[in-house]
Amino acid sequence: MFVKKIEKLPSNVKRVLKRSSVLSRKLDVAIYLVGGIVRDFILGRDNFDLDIVVEGDGLKFAHALGEHYKADFRKHHSFGTATVYFKGFKVDIATARRESYPHPGALPVITRSTLKEDLIRRDFSINAMALSLNRDDYGGLIDYYKGYTDLRDGIIRVLHDRSFTDDPTRIFRAIRFEQRFGFRMRRGTLKLLKSALAKGALKTVNEQRLRDELALMFEEEHPSRCVKRVQALIGWRFLNAQVRLSSKELALFRHLDETVRVYQKSFPHYPKVDRRALYFAGLLLPLDVKEVLTVSARFGLRKNERTVALAVGKAYRKIYRVCRGRIDPVRLYTVLSGYPLEVILFCYAYYYRNRTVKKNLLFYLDKLFGVSLKVRGRDLKKLGFGPERSYSKVFTKLLHKKIEKDFRSRREELKELKKLAKDHLRKK
Ligand code: CTP
Repeated sequence: MFVKKIEKLPSNVKRVLKRSSVLSRKLDVAIYLVGGIVRDFILGRDNFDLDIVVEGDGLKFAHALGEHYKADFRKHHSFGTATVYFKGFKVDIATARRESYPHPGALPVITRSTLKEDLIRRDFSINAMALSLNRDDYGGLIDYYKGYTDLRDGIIRVLHDRSFTDDPTRIFRAIRFEQRFGFRMRRGTLKLLKSALAKGALKTVNEQRLRDELALMFEEEHPSRCVKRVQALIGWRFLNAQVRLSSKELALFRHLDETVRVYQKSFPHYPKVDRRALYFAGLLLPLDVKEVLTVSARFGLRKNERTVALAVGKAYRKIYRVCRGRIDPVRLYTVLSGYPLEVILFCYAYYYRNRTVKKNLLFYLDKLFGVSLKVRGRDLKKLGFGPERSYSKVFTKLLHKKIEKDFRSRREELKELKKLAKDHLRKK
C-alpha cells in the first residue's frame, strides 16, 4: 500500500530500508517501521526519523545493519534498543516489547513481545501504526488500533485508560500533536487527561522530563497554540504559582511565534534562534531573579534558557526606554550589542504594538548585529605605531565611526585607524 511512498524517500534512506528487509530474512526476524514516521507518511509530511521494531532479537539485527554499512552504532542497554547512524539520518531499532509501570510516572519495566503488544503500549492511535518491511508484504500498513481512521478524522485518542497516568508526559504530547495537526482530543481521551491531572499525575514525573516536553512544544511551528492549550487544560502552577497567563500574556506568545517567523525569513543567514530560551523567558517573566534560578534548577533548564530568562527580566524595560524614540546607531549598538539575540527578539515581540521600538530593533538586527572591525592590533603595528601602548579606546572609536559612516571596506577602516591613532598619541 505504501510502497510508492517508500519509493519517494531519498535514495540513501530507501537503500537502507531495502537492505534491512534482506537482513531481516537472513536473521529470521520480522521488522516494521513504526511510530511518527508512519503517521507522517500517511499525512505526506517529511520525516526521516526511522524507528524500526523487530519481532526477534533487535540488538542482533541492529548490529548486523551497522556492520553491513560500517556505520556508527550505539546500544542503549537499559531499553534493549540501539541506534545506527547514517549520513543525514539515523535508524532507531528496538525489540518488540511490552511495558509495565512499577508506579505511575516511573520509567517502564520491559519484556520481549510481539508487534501488536508493542503498538498498544504507545501513546495515541495515530502513533500506533506500522509499515511492514518484510518481503511478503513490504510497505503494507498494519493498523490494529484504527489509527488511520483517527488520522483521517483529526482525532487524538489514547489506546487504554491508564495511558496518561502511566506516562503523564503524554498529557503534553496530546496537546502538542493536537495543535501541530489542528486535531482534537476524543472526548474520552480528554476526560482521561483531566482525571489524570486531577489525581496529581504531573507530580509523579521527574521535573526535567516536564522541561523536555515544554522544550519540544517550543520547537513546534506555532508554540503559542500549545501554550494557550496548556493554560486552558493544565495551567502553569506546576512551574510556579505566579505563572498565570491572561489574554494579554497569551498575545505575547503569539507575537513570539510571529517574531521568530519574521526573523527567520528576513535573516536566513543569521544565527539560529534558541526558541526554547525565548519561550521559557516568556513564561518566567513574572518571576524575580531568585525564583527564576529556583525554577531553572528544579526543571533542569539549559544554561542559555536560564541566561536569556534572567537577561530578559533585567533588560526589557531598559531596552524599551532606549528604543521608544529616535536613537543614533552608535548608542543603539552600545546598548544592544551586549545582549543575546533572544533578548532582542523577545523585546521585539513584547513591544509588538510599538512601531518605533520595533523599527529600532529591526534596524539593529539588519545593520548593526554582529558588526565588528576588519582591522586588528597588528595593523597598527604595520602602520608604524609602537606595540606597547593601549589602543583599546582607538578601536572603540573606530567601531563607532564604522557604524556612523557605514564603512564597508578594510581600506576605509585602515585610513580611519591611522587618523584616530595619530590623534590618540597627540592627546597623550
Ligand atoms: N511514544 C509513546 N509514548 C511516549 C513517547 C513516545 O508511546 N511518551 C511512542 C509513540 O508511538 C511515538 C514513538 O514512541 O510515535 C516515537 O516517539 P517520538 O520520537 O517522541 O515521537 P514522534 O511520534 O516521532 O513525534 P515527533 O513527530 O514529535 O518527533
